[in-house]
Amino acid sequence: MSIAETLRSVIRFRRVETDLVERRLARAASVADLRRIARRRLPRGVFDYIDGAAEDERTLASNEAAFARTSFRPRVLRGIEKVDTSTTLLGRPLAYPLVLAPTGFTRIADPQGELAVARAAARAELPYTLSTLSTRSIEEVRAASDGRLWFQVYAWRDRGLVREMIERAASARFEALVLTVDTAVFGRRERDVRRGFSLPPMIGPGTLVDGALHPAWTWNLVRNEPIRFANVLGRDVGDGASPVNLSDYINSQFDPSLSWADVDWLRSVWNGPIVVKGIQTVDDAILAADAGVDAIALSNHGGRQLDGAPAAFSLVAPVADAVAGRIEIICDGGVRRGSDIVKAVAAGANACMAGRAYLYALGAAGERGVDRVLGWFRADVTRTMALLGVASSDALDRSLLDLERR
Ligand code: GLV
Repeated sequence: MSIAETLRSVIRFRRVETDLVERRLARAASVADLRRIARRRLPRGVFDYIDGAAEDERTLASNEAAFARTSFRPRVLRGIEKVDTSTTLLGRPLAYPLVLAPTGFTRIADPQGELAVARAAARAELPYTLSTLSTRSIEEVRAASDGRLWFQVYAWRDRGLVREMIERAASARFEALVLTVDTAVFGRRERDVRRGFSLPPMIGPGTLVDGALHPAWTWNLVRNEPIRFANVLGRDVGDGASPVNLSDYINSQFDPSLSWADVDWLRSVWNGPIVVKGIQTVDDAILAADAGVDAIALSNHGGRQLDGAPAAFSLVAPVADAVAGRIEIICDGGVRRGSDIVKAVAAGANACMAGRAYLYALGAAGERGVDRVLGWFRADVTRTMALLGVASSDALDRSLLDLERR
């Protein structure tokens, strides 16, 4: 046997991947890996806007830590042949208990922005929540995806504008409204303050260097149409035609006097389900149930608003004890793996929301990155349930968690 034949008989060569995106994705096995890749590919200001949070970022860290502190009580020898991860939320089916959270300005991570995320969510059979502050409009997103879409609203001072957007979402067959209630004023994100970050990103000496160091991102930015607040183009609230400091923008345009009475107003202009996002106490969860909304998202806005707010996951069990059965519960914040989703559902949530996980994926590898992360989550949920000895998501309960050690 020649040396070449001997080598061939013992070594198998992997096919060389010529597709650059696939090559990048082949090196990633987790959300943490995608975050690392996104950090390298995106300008620092953009990455920090996505990755950062309020003040000392303690709440950001505690969202993840609350999951990490909780371990499972796995059951074995339960004869589980097949795992069914599907569930229902707001009366409609989900492939597994996850909703894609609303995130603003998604096009800063990738030129396709919200269109890419909506398409990936539809392929994964999960709902996608479009943000009011999106960079693709309600109509563009519906044209790109036939999947389940929810629309997130902020309380602008101009309620006429909110009403108009709600009517547009209804015409575009969005099925639920998500009212964000944790933004009375804007949180202080110190990474953005330090960088003087604006939206759309403004070119200054620092950003010029940052842009030059990330040529692929910069080329995409200049090659595509300008990044604007696509739902309010041409309106006097400002559509981002001139760069805005987000904190000034929100503090001047959003209404801090929002109250439970506005939820009644919302119901008068919208026939479908309403989700109140940003509940952070048991008391407010009870008020939401009393107000007759369909679901709440336990959320601290990914730690981007009040630093020191409780971790979303730590609220699930006490809130479920107070209101489960009256209202559906979504846990938003810190989800980085499918096992986090399983923990939240076992503690009493109906589903989770995740935002940063798909934004890192989008920044790392565009739409295919989002497909990848949603596929991982599904596989994680399936594998975790199999290892816990649970055949269906309805059978997830607190007996599977070691909540005491929290
Ligand atoms: C917008 O909602 C943000 O958190 O930046």
